[in-house]
Amino acid sequence: MENAAPLASVAEVAEAIARVDTIVDLEQLRVQWLGKKGHLTRAMQGLAGLDPEQRRARGAELNQQKNAIQDLLEQRRAEIDQQVLERRLASESIDVTLPGRNAVQGALHPVRQTLDWIEDYFARLGFDVADGPELEDDFHNFTALNIPEDHPARAMHDTFYLEDGRVLRTHTSPVQVRYLAEHQAPLRMIATGRVYRRDSDLTHTPMFHQVEGLYLDEGASFADLRGLLADFLQEFFGSSSLPVRFRPSYFPFTEPSAEVDVGCVICNGEGCRVCKNTGWLEVLGCGMVHPAVLEMAKVDQEQFTGFAFGLGVERLTMLRYGIHDLRLFFENDLRFLRQFA
Ligand code: DAH
Repeated sequence: MENAAPLASVAEVAEAIARVDTIVDLEQLRVQWLGKKGHLTRAMQGLAGLDPEQRRARGAELNQQKNAIQDLLEQRRAEIDQQVLERRLASESIDVTLPGRNAVQGALHPVRQTLDWIEDYFARLGFDVADGPELEDDFHNFTALNIPEDHPARAMHDTFYLEDGRVLRTHTSPVQVRYLAEHQAPLRMIATGRVYRRDSDLTHTPMFHQVEGLYLDEGASFADLRGLLADFLQEFFGSSSLPVRFRPSYFPFTEPSAEVDVGCVICNGEGCRVCKNTGWLEVLGCGMVHPAVLEMAKVDQEQFTGFAFGLGVERLTMLRYGIHDLRLFFENDLRFLRQFA
């Protein structure tokens, strides 16, 4: 019978238990000794064949072994549970002393920054910031601005035409016309936004940004225009001694018209490639609003006069930051854009 099967000593079992370090292996040991067909269980079944005297002695011995093994198993199980817990805590712990990860932060495009600056500047002077459609009709883009059908100025604009006869606006000046249709003088407004021309080379892109200004009031004069724009340009370039000069020019919607130059901000007027050695940079166009434009807008010209101006935002931004290549604005190279964060 099985009772004769040699039983290992408790010390041997204890050694085996100590070597085990997973719950699964430990369970295997338990089954091996205490399971239904385990060594101890069978030995106990074997007691039946012994005479009463022997049975008592052997039974007590086996019981003792069983209790000892059970204690060892329980102890080891607690140890393994503890180890598992410790390992988990170590692997899931957060090292609060590690340096944080940097959040990637975006920034406004330099052209947008210039637009914001200009809008802010004129808003503080009481100008309304207006807006108009980029898909414009011929009337607003040209005719109402005193550029009739066969006017040579139309050719200068390199217009994108749509099949339905509309155009991608070639300048922000049509917003003047739209604004005049809805507002009565006296008024001050600027309009900012995208404009489009079929033009693409080192210094021209098919889309760029303009700012348009319109000012109507009793007695508004060229001197007012001159003062306003000189202050604006000196503030924009951060120099109250920046030279500003007005040169006679021509625009169909203003009379008289002028182009405005500032002393070259790259070379301080010494002469460089950017100012083509003239010491001057042309930065905007302006003039007194043409009577034909006022008449089409039904402005009472006995009472009101006005002036207007227009400028290119990319160009001003390039001059302000010393950027030499217009294409940088459109390539979205982060190495370039990050410099304006
Ligand atoms: N619209 C002109 C252009 O795109 C710029 C301009 C010139 C606007 C003179 C004006 C102005 O309002 O008075 O070239």
